[in-house]
Amino acid sequence: MAQFSLSPTGEKFKLPEADDYQKEFLRLQELVKEQKALGREIVVVMGLGFVGAVMAGVVADTVNKNGEPIKFVIGMQRPSTRSFWKIPWINRGISPVSSEDPEVATLIHRCVNEKKTLTATYTYEALKFADVVVVDIQCDYLKESLGNVRNGRADMEALEESIEIMAEHVPPEALILIETTVAPGTTEQIAYPIIKKAFRRRGINSDPLLAHSFERVMPGRNYVASIREFWRVCSGVNEEAKQRVVKFLNEIINTEKYPLTVLDRPIESETAKIVENSFRATILAFLDEWSIFAERNGVDLIKVIEAIKVRPTHNNIIFPGPGIGGYCLPKDGGLGIWAYQHIHGWEDDIFKITPLAIDINDTRALHVAQLTRDALRNMGRPIAAAEILLLGASYKEDVGDTRYSGSELIVRRLTEMGADMRVHDPYVLRWWEFEKQDEYPGSSRSLKRFFRGQEKLKELCVEQDLKKALSGIDALIFAVRHKHYLNLDPDEVVKDAGGPIAVIDCFGILDDAKIRRYFELECEVKGLGRGHVKRIKDEVRQRRSED
Ligand SMILES: NC(=O)c1ccc[n+]([C@@H]2O[C@H](COP(=O)([O-])OP(=O)(O)OC[C@H]3O[C@@H](n4cnc5c(N)ncnc54)[C@H](O)[C@@H]3O)[C@@H](O)[C@H]2O)c1
Repeated sequence: MAQFSLSPTGEKFKLPEADDYQKEFLRLQELVKEQKALGREIVVVMGLGFVGAVMAGVVADTVNKNGEPIKFVIGMQRPSTRSFWKIPWINRGISPVSSEDPEVATLIHRCVNEKKTLTATYTYEALKFADVVVVDIQCDYLKESLGNVRNGRADMEALEESIEIMAEHVPPEALILIETTVAPGTTEQIAYPIIKKAFRRRGINSDPLLAHSFERVMPGRNYVASIREFWRVCSGVNEEAKQRVVKFLNEIINTEKYPLTVLDRPIESETAKIVENSFRATILAFLDEWSIFAERNGVDLIKVIEAIKVRPTHNNIIFPGPGIGGYCLPKDGGLGIWAYQHIHGWEDDIFKITPLAIDINDTRALHVAQLTRDALRNMGRPIAAAEILLLGASYKEDVGDTRYSGSELIVRRLTEMGADMRVHDPYVLRWWEFEKQDEYPGSSRSLKRFFRGQEKLKELCVEQDLKKALSGIDALIFAVRHKHYLNLDPDEVVKDAGGPIAVIDCFGILDDAKIRRYFELECEVKGLGRGHVKRIKDEVRQRRSED
């Protein structure tokens, strides 16, 4: 039976069948012949996800001093039911990732339809044409329990399998650039031997040209610039690989303005990525306990942070919202901890801060459910059967990426407590973590398994009409700082809701005037790290009793 892949807009694409592969190979062969005749290098980008899709566009957009394109990019993506649609979308010139950065859509459109330097495919045979392979597939870290990163492992099988396939197809002189965030040691101790052995089987004696350079891409307002106009770290397994990766990055990235850092060994480049993200996870986790302190002692942590930030040595202190999601920060430290034992063979337990930080971040969102419960209780409403609207499904403002978002945990916990959840997010059309919770992000890997009563969440639709979403709710949770939520007028909100509601601010979205207005409208307000709301409430009550 034919299988289909459903795009976020609901369009169905039939997955390729056995006899489609030969036709696809011939299509690519023809394209490559034309492009080679134009003197362009063939770059295969593997994995057209949040990183690969935009990286493919950036490479395809590269020009020489005369403004002529110098690369032809074949974006290669597995034809899975979840991801196949990305291929026909890219081939129409449509970006498979949605973003606040308008350059993402124009970049993909320009390269596919105008410059004709980008195509997408599902066949691994594309690797046979590669001068350069850029690896942007994922390497997951699988956690076995909620809030205990130590009880998990790197998902190496999928990565190893992909490297094996690559090694069987690539020309020996191709540069293989791993951009995937990997457990430190992977490039030299896992990828290199796999490729070397495959080369030997193929009768190739030369050393693989294998390099590592991690991505620092930030999906959001500066999505494209965060690849092209940003500093890079790289290294290679041998001198030639190092020179090739430096040449490649110099061509596609603005290294004049953002110079490259070339490290001696790939393990150093790999470690740089893990340490960089563990550092970030740690400074975010650090404020969790102070957030509780603030709530219990009348302190507005948002103002405290602003006060501290004026000091230049402390200006990267950041308020940690309802949990730290995204694909990277919840897992990267885990990859490092895992590598220490399972790649490098150490037995002792040297890691204290990194796992603690990840565990704190992974469970911070649960506190939002407590605040919601308490706010509703103050209004004399039980949480069970309460209608609650969550504003924002993604992990970060102004992007459509829901991976490991704190919002998912909020929905799951409140559902477990009996609430009826609604969600609004202008960037997210389908919330796969719920809609496909039995198979995404992998069978038996959904966060669903840590909560009870989750079955009905398969029906959870992401509302696009805010007015409709607000109608008849008991509680409103501001979870993400999407620009659409920053200026919502309390009077309008309460009018659309049909009466007073509980309002939970997870991200310092409400200023004091808005908090005051919600209280005047007989709402209840609570917020992460916002202990001062009680003072505002008392003032409003005092004034009311004096009137
Ligand atoms: N998302 C970010 O903001 C970000 C930032 C910096 C680094 N990274 C790192 O970049 C890597 C990729 O992340 P992402 O966010 O793009 O992940 P993603 O899940 O969005 O994309 C990975 C893509 O690779 C495809 N894929 C998997 N195996 C494949 C194979 N064998 N052949 C072809 N395609 C395959 C998947 O179907 C998917 O489309 C990860 O290591 C991540 O940690 C991500």
